[in-house]
Amino acid sequence: MVKVTVCGAAGGIGQPLSLLLKLNPQVSELALFDIVNAKGVAADLSHINTPAIVTGYQPANKEDKTAIVESLKGTDLVIIPAGVPRKPGMTRADLFNINASIIRDLVANIARTAPNAAILIISNPVNSTVPIAAEVLKKLGVFNPKKLFGVTTLDSVRAETFLAGLINVSPTSLQGKISVIGGHSGDTIVPLINATPEIARKVATLSTDQYNKFINRVQYGGDEVVKAKNGVGSATLSMAYAGYRFAENVLNSLAGKETSGSIPDSSYVYLPGLPGGKELSTKYLNGVDFFSVPVVLEGGQIKSFVNPFELLKVTNDETKLVKVALDGLSKSIDQGVAFVTASK
Ligand code: NAD
Ligand code: LMR
Repeated sequence: MVKVTVCGAAGGIGQPLSLLLKLNPQVSELALFDIVNAKGVAADLSHINTPAIVTGYQPANKEDKTAIVESLKGTDLVIIPAGVPRKPGMTRADLFNINASIIRDLVANIARTAPNAAILIISNPVNSTVPIAAEVLKKLGVFNPKKLFGVTTLDSVRAETFLAGLINVSPTSLQGKISVIGGHSGDTIVPLINATPEIARKVATLSTDQYNKFINRVQYGGDEVVKAKNGVGSATLSMAYAGYRFAENVLNSLAGKETSGSIPDSSYVYLPGLPGGKELSTKYLNGVDFFSVPVVLEGGQIKSFVNPFELLKVTNDETKLVKVALDGLSKSIDQGVAFVTASK
Protein backbone atom coordinates (compact mmCIF):
# COMPACT_ATOMS: atom_id res chain seq x y z
CA MET A 1 0.00 0.00 0.00
CA VAL A 2 1.86 3.06 -1.22
CA LYS A 3 0.41 6.54 -1.64
CA VAL A 4 2.12 8.82 -4.13
CA THR A 5 1.32 12.54 -4.48
CA VAL A 6 2.23 14.52 -7.58
CA CYS A 7 2.33 18.32 -7.14
CA GLY A 8 1.98 20.02 -10.52
CA ALA A 9 0.16 16.96 -11.85
CA ALA A 10 -1.73 18.75 -14.62
CA GLY A 11 1.39 20.09 -16.32
CA GLY A 12 3.47 18.96 -19.26
CA ILE A 13 5.52 16.61 -17.05
CA GLY A 14 2.85 16.00 -14.41
CA GLN A 15 0.35 14.35 -16.75
CA PRO A 16 2.55 11.71 -18.41
CA LEU A 17 4.37 11.12 -15.11
CA SER A 18 1.03 10.49 -13.40
CA LEU A 19 0.06 8.13 -16.21
CA LEU A 20 3.23 6.08 -15.67
CA LEU A 21 2.62 6.01 -11.90
CA LYS A 22 -0.97 4.85 -12.46
CA LEU A 23 0.44 1.87 -14.39
CA ASN A 24 2.61 0.78 -11.45
CA PRO A 25 0.81 -1.95 -9.47
CA GLN A 26 2.75 -1.03 -6.30
CA VAL A 27 0.90 2.29 -6.12
CA SER A 28 -2.37 1.92 -4.22
CA GLU A 29 -3.29 5.61 -4.16
CA LEU A 30 -2.29 8.36 -6.55
CA ALA A 31 -3.12 11.89 -5.38
CA LEU A 32 -2.86 14.57 -8.03
CA PHE A 33 -2.46 18.18 -6.88
CA ASP A 34 -2.33 21.22 -9.14
CA ILE A 35 -3.68 24.75 -9.06
CA VAL A 36 -5.58 23.96 -12.28
CA ASN A 37 -7.22 20.90 -13.87
CA ALA A 38 -6.05 18.30 -11.31
CA LYS A 39 -9.58 16.92 -11.04
CA GLY A 40 -9.87 16.51 -14.80
CA VAL A 41 -6.56 14.66 -15.08
CA ALA A 42 -7.53 12.46 -12.12
CA ALA A 43 -10.94 11.60 -13.62
CA ASP A 44 -9.26 10.68 -16.89
CA LEU A 45 -6.56 8.46 -15.32
CA SER A 46 -9.04 6.87 -12.90
CA HIS A 47 -10.64 4.95 -15.81
CA ILE A 48 -7.46 2.94 -16.39
CA ASN A 49 -7.87 -0.62 -15.11
CA THR A 50 -4.95 -0.72 -12.68
CA PRO A 51 -5.26 -0.86 -8.86
CA ALA A 52 -4.23 2.71 -7.94
CA ILE A 53 -7.14 4.87 -6.75
CA VAL A 54 -6.68 8.28 -8.37
CA THR A 55 -7.87 11.46 -6.70
CA GLY A 56 -7.56 15.07 -7.87
CA TYR A 57 -7.08 18.11 -5.64
CA GLN A 58 -7.14 21.74 -6.69
CA PRO A 59 -7.68 24.78 -4.49
CA ALA A 60 -10.95 26.72 -4.79
CA ASN A 61 -9.01 30.01 -4.43
CA LYS A 62 -5.56 31.33 -3.44
CA GLU A 63 -6.32 31.09 0.30
CA ASP A 64 -7.67 27.52 0.14
CA LYS A 65 -5.13 25.16 1.77
CA THR A 66 -7.47 22.16 2.07
CA ALA A 67 -6.61 20.69 -1.33
CA ILE A 68 -2.86 20.52 -0.80
CA VAL A 69 -3.25 19.18 2.74
CA GLU A 70 -5.72 16.46 1.63
CA SER A 71 -3.47 15.44 -1.27
CA LEU A 72 -0.55 14.99 1.14
CA LYS A 73 -2.25 13.20 4.04
CA GLY A 74 -0.62 9.81 4.62
CA THR A 75 1.53 10.01 1.50
CA ASP A 76 4.76 8.03 1.19
CA LEU A 77 6.24 9.76 -1.82
CA VAL A 78 5.77 13.30 -3.14
CA ILE A 79 6.98 14.15 -6.64
CA ILE A 80 7.14 17.84 -7.57
CA PRO A 81 7.13 19.00 -11.19
CA ALA A 82 5.23 22.21 -10.27
CA GLY A 83 6.35 25.56 -11.63
CA VAL A 84 7.23 27.31 -14.85
CA PRO A 85 9.42 25.86 -17.60
CA ARG A 86 11.98 27.72 -19.75
CA LYS A 87 11.42 29.53 -23.02
CA PRO A 88 14.17 29.99 -25.66
CA GLY A 89 16.88 32.40 -24.47
CA MET A 90 16.29 31.66 -20.78
CA THR A 91 18.57 29.76 -18.41
CA ARG A 92 17.18 27.53 -15.67
CA ALA A 93 18.35 30.16 -13.17
CA ASP A 94 15.91 32.61 -14.79
CA LEU A 95 13.09 30.45 -13.35
CA PHE A 96 14.27 31.04 -9.79
CA ASN A 97 12.07 34.09 -9.11
CA ILE A 98 8.84 32.18 -9.74
CA ASN A 99 9.73 28.59 -8.84
CA ALA A 100 11.60 29.29 -5.58
CA SER A 101 8.46 30.37 -3.75
CA ILE A 102 6.39 27.54 -5.29
CA ILE A 103 8.86 24.98 -3.93
CA ARG A 104 9.20 26.73 -0.57
CA ASP A 105 5.44 26.73 -0.03
CA LEU A 106 4.81 23.19 -1.27
CA VAL A 107 7.63 21.79 0.86
CA ALA A 108 6.36 23.65 3.93
CA ASN A 109 3.03 21.89 3.44
CA ILE A 110 4.79 18.53 3.09
CA ALA A 111 6.76 19.24 6.28
CA ARG A 112 3.55 19.88 8.21
CA THR A 113 1.33 17.18 6.72
CA ALA A 114 3.63 14.36 5.59
CA PRO A 115 6.99 14.88 7.33
CA ASN A 116 8.08 11.29 6.71
CA ALA A 117 7.45 11.25 2.96
CA ALA A 118 10.27 10.93 0.45
CA ILE A 119 10.39 14.08 -1.71
CA LEU A 120 11.50 14.12 -5.36
CA ILE A 121 12.09 17.60 -6.77
CA ILE A 122 11.90 18.07 -10.53
CA SER A 123 11.17 21.83 -10.67
CA ASN A 124 14.03 24.01 -11.92
CA PRO A 125 16.52 25.33 -11.14
CA VAL A 126 17.13 21.99 -9.37
CA ASN A 127 20.57 23.22 -8.22
CA SER A 128 18.70 25.79 -6.05
CA THR A 129 15.23 24.29 -5.50
CA VAL A 130 16.66 21.30 -3.60
CA PRO A 131 18.66 23.54 -1.19
CA ILE A 132 15.45 25.58 -0.77
CA ALA A 133 13.54 22.42 0.16
CA ALA A 134 16.28 21.37 2.59
CA GLU A 135 16.27 24.76 4.32
CA VAL A 136 12.48 24.75 4.68
CA LEU A 137 12.53 21.24 6.14
CA LYS A 138 15.35 22.24 8.51
CA LYS A 139 13.44 25.35 9.60
CA LEU A 140 10.40 23.21 10.38
CA GLY A 141 12.51 20.63 12.21
CA VAL A 142 11.78 17.62 9.97
CA PHE A 143 14.71 17.45 7.56
CA ASN A 144 15.72 13.90 6.68
CA PRO A 145 18.49 14.20 4.04
CA LYS A 146 18.04 10.54 3.17
CA LYS A 147 14.58 11.34 1.81
CA LEU A 148 15.18 14.50 -0.20
CA PHE A 149 16.06 13.88 -3.85
CA GLY A 150 16.78 16.30 -6.68
CA VAL A 151 15.79 14.50 -9.87
CA THR A 152 18.74 14.51 -12.29
CA THR A 153 17.88 11.24 -14.02
CA LEU A 154 17.17 12.97 -17.35
CA ASP A 155 20.88 13.77 -17.63
CA SER A 156 21.68 10.06 -17.30
CA VAL A 157 18.95 9.12 -19.75
CA ARG A 158 20.40 11.59 -22.27
CA ALA A 159 23.98 10.44 -21.66
CA GLU A 160 22.95 6.81 -22.24
CA THR A 161 21.07 7.68 -25.43
CA PHE A 162 23.70 9.96 -26.96
CA LEU A 163 26.69 7.76 -26.07
CA ALA A 164 25.01 4.61 -27.36
CA GLY A 165 24.80 6.17 -30.81
CA LEU A 166 28.51 7.00 -30.74
CA ILE A 167 29.87 3.67 -29.52
CA ASN A 168 27.30 1.56 -31.30
CA VAL A 169 25.61 -0.23 -28.42
CA SER A 170 21.98 -0.39 -27.34
CA PRO A 171 21.00 2.69 -25.26
CA THR A 172 19.28 0.53 -22.64
CA SER A 173 22.47 -1.49 -22.16
CA LEU A 174 24.22 1.62 -20.81
CA GLN A 175 21.95 2.02 -17.78
CA GLY A 176 24.10 1.26 -14.74
CA LYS A 177 27.34 1.36 -16.79
CA ILE A 178 27.95 5.10 -16.98
CA SER A 179 27.05 7.80 -14.51
CA VAL A 180 26.22 11.49 -14.39
CA ILE A 181 27.20 13.50 -11.33
CA GLY A 182 27.24 17.17 -10.27
CA GLY A 183 24.15 19.30 -10.73
CA HIS A 184 21.39 19.82 -13.27
CA SER A 185 22.25 22.72 -15.56
CA GLY A 186 24.86 23.35 -18.23
CA ASP A 187 28.43 22.92 -17.02
CA THR A 188 27.36 21.65 -13.59
CA ILE A 189 26.35 18.39 -15.33
CA VAL A 190 29.28 15.95 -15.38
CA PRO A 191 28.92 12.71 -17.34
CA LEU A 192 31.33 9.98 -16.23
CA ILE A 193 31.48 7.77 -19.26
CA ASN A 194 34.67 5.98 -18.28
CA ALA A 195 33.19 4.77 -15.02
CA THR A 196 33.28 1.08 -15.98
CA PRO A 197 36.24 -0.56 -17.80
CA GLU A 198 33.95 -2.22 -20.36
CA ILE A 199 32.53 1.09 -21.61
CA ALA A 200 35.82 3.00 -21.12
CA ARG A 201 37.44 0.70 -23.70
CA LYS A 202 34.77 1.61 -26.25
CA VAL A 203 34.91 5.32 -25.31
CA ALA A 204 38.69 5.25 -25.98
CA THR A 205 37.90 4.87 -29.69
CA LEU A 206 36.19 8.29 -29.78
CA SER A 207 38.09 11.32 -31.06
CA THR A 208 38.57 14.32 -28.75
CA ASP A 209 36.10 16.22 -30.90
CA GLN A 210 33.48 13.47 -30.56
CA TYR A 211 34.03 13.33 -26.79
CA ASN A 212 33.75 17.12 -26.39
CA LYS A 213 30.62 17.27 -28.52
CA PHE A 214 29.08 14.45 -26.50
CA ILE A 215 29.76 16.21 -23.18
CA ASN A 216 28.34 19.45 -24.53
CA ARG A 217 25.22 17.70 -25.83
CA VAL A 218 24.49 16.12 -22.45
CA GLN A 219 25.15 19.39 -20.60
CA TYR A 220 22.94 21.39 -22.97
CA GLY A 221 20.42 18.70 -23.98
CA GLY A 222 17.69 20.69 -22.25
CA ASP A 223 18.37 23.66 -24.55
CA GLU A 224 17.98 21.40 -27.59
CA VAL A 225 14.40 20.61 -26.55
CA VAL A 226 13.57 24.18 -25.47
CA LYS A 227 14.72 25.43 -28.89
CA ALA A 228 12.81 22.75 -30.80
CA LYS A 229 9.61 23.44 -28.82
CA ASN A 230 10.07 27.09 -29.76
CA GLY A 231 8.35 28.82 -26.84
CA VAL A 232 5.90 26.07 -25.90
CA GLY A 233 8.02 24.69 -23.03
CA SER A 234 10.87 22.35 -22.23
CA ALA A 235 11.34 18.58 -22.00
CA THR A 236 8.18 16.93 -20.69
CA LEU A 237 7.90 13.40 -22.10
CA SER A 238 11.54 12.38 -21.68
CA MET A 239 11.38 14.02 -18.24
CA ALA A 240 8.25 12.10 -17.29
CA TYR A 241 10.08 8.90 -18.28
CA ALA A 242 13.20 9.94 -16.32
CA GLY A 243 11.19 11.07 -13.28
CA TYR A 244 9.28 7.82 -13.34
CA ARG A 245 12.51 5.83 -13.60
CA PHE A 246 13.77 7.42 -10.42
CA ALA A 247 10.38 7.19 -8.67
CA GLU A 248 10.28 3.49 -9.57
CA ASN A 249 13.66 3.05 -7.85
CA VAL A 250 12.12 4.53 -4.70
CA LEU A 251 8.96 2.41 -5.03
CA ASN A 252 11.05 -0.72 -5.55
CA SER A 253 13.06 0.06 -2.43
CA LEU A 254 9.83 0.50 -0.47
CA ALA A 255 8.83 -2.96 -1.67
CA GLY A 256 12.11 -4.37 -0.35
CA LYS A 257 13.78 -4.77 -3.76
CA GLU A 258 17.49 -3.99 -3.96
CA THR A 259 18.66 -1.04 -6.08
CA SER A 260 19.54 -2.44 -9.51
CA GLY A 261 22.47 -1.74 -11.84
CA SER A 262 26.18 -1.87 -11.14
CA ILE A 263 26.05 1.94 -10.84
CA PRO A 264 22.67 3.07 -9.46
CA ASP A 265 20.92 6.20 -10.74
CA SER A 266 22.23 9.48 -9.37
CA SER A 267 20.29 12.06 -7.40
CA TYR A 268 21.15 15.59 -6.26
CA VAL A 269 21.34 15.24 -2.49
CA TYR A 270 22.54 16.95 0.69
CA LEU A 271 25.81 15.13 1.29
CA PRO A 272 26.53 16.03 4.95
CA GLY A 273 23.33 14.25 5.93
CA LEU A 274 24.52 10.93 4.46
CA PRO A 275 27.05 8.50 5.93
CA GLY A 276 30.44 9.51 4.50
CA GLY A 277 28.94 12.51 2.71
CA LYS A 278 30.74 15.24 4.63
CA GLU A 279 34.07 13.52 3.84
CA LEU A 280 33.20 13.38 0.14
CA SER A 281 32.30 17.07 0.13
CA THR A 282 35.44 18.12 2.03
CA LYS A 283 37.92 15.88 0.24
CA TYR A 284 36.75 16.13 -3.37
CA LEU A 285 34.17 18.93 -3.71
CA ASN A 286 35.68 21.99 -2.00
CA GLY A 287 33.01 21.81 0.67
CA VAL A 288 30.07 21.91 -1.77
CA ASP A 289 27.27 20.17 0.10
CA PHE A 290 24.66 19.46 -2.59
CA PHE A 291 25.84 17.19 -5.37
CA SER A 292 24.38 14.49 -7.57
CA VAL A 293 25.86 11.05 -6.84
CA PRO A 294 24.69 7.49 -7.49
CA VAL A 295 22.45 6.47 -4.60
CA VAL A 296 21.61 3.06 -3.18
CA LEU A 297 18.10 3.01 -1.75
CA GLU A 298 16.47 0.97 0.98
CA GLY A 299 12.97 1.38 2.42
CA GLY A 300 12.27 4.56 0.44
CA GLN A 301 15.39 6.36 1.52
CA ILE A 302 19.11 6.56 0.80
CA LYS A 303 21.09 3.75 2.36
CA SER A 304 24.45 4.77 0.92
CA PHE A 305 26.01 6.45 -2.11
CA VAL A 306 28.71 5.43 -4.54
CA ASN A 307 31.70 7.73 -4.09
CA PRO A 308 32.60 8.37 -7.73
CA PHE A 309 36.17 9.40 -6.92
CA GLU A 310 36.95 6.21 -5.03
CA LEU A 311 34.69 3.59 -6.55
CA LEU A 312 34.39 4.60 -10.22
CA LYS A 313 37.02 5.49 -12.78
CA VAL A 314 37.15 9.30 -13.10
CA THR A 315 39.57 10.52 -15.79
CA ASN A 316 41.59 13.76 -15.72
CA ASP A 317 39.19 15.36 -18.23
CA GLU A 318 36.25 14.40 -16.03
CA THR A 319 38.00 15.79 -12.93
CA LYS A 320 38.38 19.12 -14.77
CA LEU A 321 34.64 19.11 -15.50
CA VAL A 322 33.92 18.55 -11.78
CA LYS A 323 36.03 21.61 -10.86
CA VAL A 324 34.02 23.80 -13.24
CA ALA A 325 30.76 22.37 -11.92
CA LEU A 326 31.59 23.20 -8.30
CA ASP A 327 31.78 26.91 -9.01
CA GLY A 328 28.29 27.09 -10.52
CA LEU A 329 26.85 24.79 -7.90
CA SER A 330 28.07 26.75 -4.89
CA LYS A 331 26.48 29.96 -6.26
CA SER A 332 23.13 28.26 -6.91
CA ILE A 333 23.14 26.60 -3.48
CA ASP A 334 23.91 29.90 -1.74
CA GLN A 335 21.08 31.58 -3.65
CA GLY A 336 18.61 28.92 -2.54
CA VAL A 337 19.70 29.04 1.11
CA ALA A 338 19.62 32.86 1.17
CA PHE A 339 16.10 32.84 -0.28
CA VAL A 340 14.75 30.76 2.60
CA THR A 341 16.71 32.72 5.20
CA ALA A 342 15.14 35.92 3.87
CA SER A 343 11.63 34.39 3.84
CA LYS A 344 9.40 34.87 6.86
P1 NAD B 1 4.15 23.10 -17.06
O1 NAD B 1 3.96 24.57 -17.07
O2 NAD B 1 3.66 22.33 -18.24
O3 NAD B 1 3.51 22.45 -15.76
C1 NAD B 1 3.73 22.97 -14.50
C2 NAD B 1 2.49 22.72 -13.68
O4 NAD B 1 2.72 23.24 -12.38
C3 NAD B 1 1.23 23.43 -14.23
O5 NAD B 1 0.16 22.51 -14.39
C4 NAD B 1 0.91 24.46 -13.15
O6 NAD B 1 -0.48 24.71 -13.00
C5 NAD B 1 1.50 23.79 -11.92
N1 NAD B 1 1.74 24.69 -10.80
C6 NAD B 1 2.19 25.96 -10.80
N2 NAD B 1 2.24 26.43 -9.55
C7 NAD B 1 1.84 25.43 -8.74
C8 NAD B 1 1.68 25.30 -7.34
N3 NAD B 1 1.94 26.30 -6.51
N4 NAD B 1 1.25 24.12 -6.86
C9 NAD B 1 0.97 23.08 -7.69
N5 NAD B 1 1.09 23.16 -9.02
C10 NAD B 1 1.52 24.32 -9.54
O7 NAD B 1 5.72 22.85 -16.85
P2 NAD B 1 6.53 21.49 -17.09
O8 NAD B 1 7.02 21.42 -18.48
O9 NAD B 1 5.72 20.36 -16.55
O10 NAD B 1 7.81 21.76 -16.14
C11 NAD B 1 7.69 21.85 -14.76
C12 NAD B 1 9.03 22.15 -14.11
O11 NAD B 1 9.93 21.05 -14.30
C13 NAD B 1 9.75 23.36 -14.69
O12 NAD B 1 10.33 24.11 -13.65
C14 NAD B 1 10.84 22.76 -15.55
O13 NAD B 1 11.93 23.61 -15.73
C15 NAD B 1 11.19 21.55 -14.74
N6 NAD B 1 11.91 20.48 -15.44
C16 NAD B 1 12.87 19.82 -14.75
C17 NAD B 1 13.58 18.80 -15.36
C18 NAD B 1 14.63 18.04 -14.61
O14 NAD B 1 15.40 17.33 -15.23
N7 NAD B 1 14.68 18.11 -13.29
C19 NAD B 1 13.29 18.44 -16.70
C20 NAD B 1 12.29 19.13 -17.36
C21 NAD B 1 11.60 20.17 -16.73
C1 LMR C 1 15.94 19.67 -19.08
O1 LMR C 1 17.09 19.35 -18.81
O2 LMR C 1 15.39 19.34 -20.14
C2 LMR C 1 15.14 20.46 -18.08
O3 LMR C 1 15.92 20.88 -17.01
C3 LMR C 1 14.33 21.56 -18.68
C4 LMR C 1 15.16 22.70 -19.19
O4 LMR C 1 14.86 23.83 -18.83
O5 LMR C 1 16.08 22.48 -19.97
